[in-house]
Amino acid sequence: MILDGQLAASVHAAAAALQRGELLGLPTETVYGLAADSDNDAAVAQIFAAKGRPANHPLIVHVADAQAITRYAKEVPLFAQQLMDAFWPGPLTLILPRLPDAAKASTGGQDSVGLRCPSHPVAHAVLKACQQLSPPVWGVSAPSANKFGRVSPTTAQHVATEFGDDLLVLDGGACEVGIESTIVDCTRGVPVLLRPGAITRDDIERACGQRPLSKEELLAHTPRASGTLLAHYAPNAKVRLMAAPQLQSALDLLGADGRNIAVYHRSALRNASKDVHLRAMPQQALATARELFGTLRDFDALGAKLIWIETPPDSADWEGVRDRLQRAAAAA
Ligand code: TXA
Ligand code: MG
Repeated sequence: MILDGQLAASVHAAAAALQRGELLGLPTETVYGLAADSDNDAAVAQIFAAKGRPANHPLIVHVADAQAITRYAKEVPLFAQQLMDAFWPGPLTLILPRLPDAAKASTGGQDSVGLRCPSHPVAHAVLKACQQLSPPVWGVSAPSANKFGRVSPTTAQHVATEFGDDLLVLDGGACEVGIESTIVDCTRGVPVLLRPGAITRDDIERACGQRPLSKEELLAHTPRASGTLLAHYAPNAKVRLMAAPQLQSALDLLGADGRNIAVYHRSALRNASKDVHLRAMPQQALATARELFGTLRDFDALGAKLIWIETPPDSADWEGVRDRLQRAAAAA
């Protein structure tokens, strides 16, 4: 059931459902989450079951404000505090050392916990309402509301399509950011970028004075993370990334027969087939991130068997989009 997230009554119904141990489709500025009370192990287990997600892939705990992390994090290094000050509420997740009894099921018993304070007004209203319940719900665990390995949802309808009408979903509109939060591991003495997103490497360096290490440099030590599996974010169609000249040659080869092919392009292209679905990628990275997952879903819905995507620019602001596209292509 989809409820209007703007209404106070919906927000309270959603908070009460979380308190009862039920699941909720929660809008955030990045993607929609499949939410449950972080400290209710049975409720959190339902998230893993509904997603088909292996239990050793930890979930992010969402909090209403930076204050609430004291219930989950054992300590906060200075650079992590600076990142929180700069980017919370917003699309940044920090991995911090975990308090022994907090969010056990969400973290799969790991000694760290992922924390994020979302900026979406509906997410914020729900988290605030949860804090005011008796007993309060201090943290809400929410992975992206998609089946394991599939494209993340950026509208309430995507969530309903994925999980059916029984799930309560708050409609908060289309997600502003469109790709999942940037994840920075703050448990290793220096910031380590585990997942690129709208907050870039450059943004992080500006805020804390340290350039984050890439996860490749520390991969051997990082916990398993589903966002780091190569074949993730996969639409049903096979995805290929190509530079503009390669893409043009492929279209030329097709000639008039372009059935079941979708193209997401940046350059002007010659195209002789009226069957090919052409969609222009926005010039800006942020605008592309916003529409990316919806575009992949649209291509699937159009019946595309092949999706050809022009490789985006190599600059830091495109890192999050490049990452998601490379994963989608790796699944082919
Ligand atoms: O934008 C987002 O982060 C969205 C919205 C709903 O907030 N959530 C999201 O969750 O993308 P999910 O579960 O799809 O991705 C969470 C990522 C996973 O790759 C997980 O392994 C990693 O965060 N993660 C969570 N806790 C961790 C921890 N303690 N150590 C390392 N990685 C962690
Ligand atoms: Mg996900």
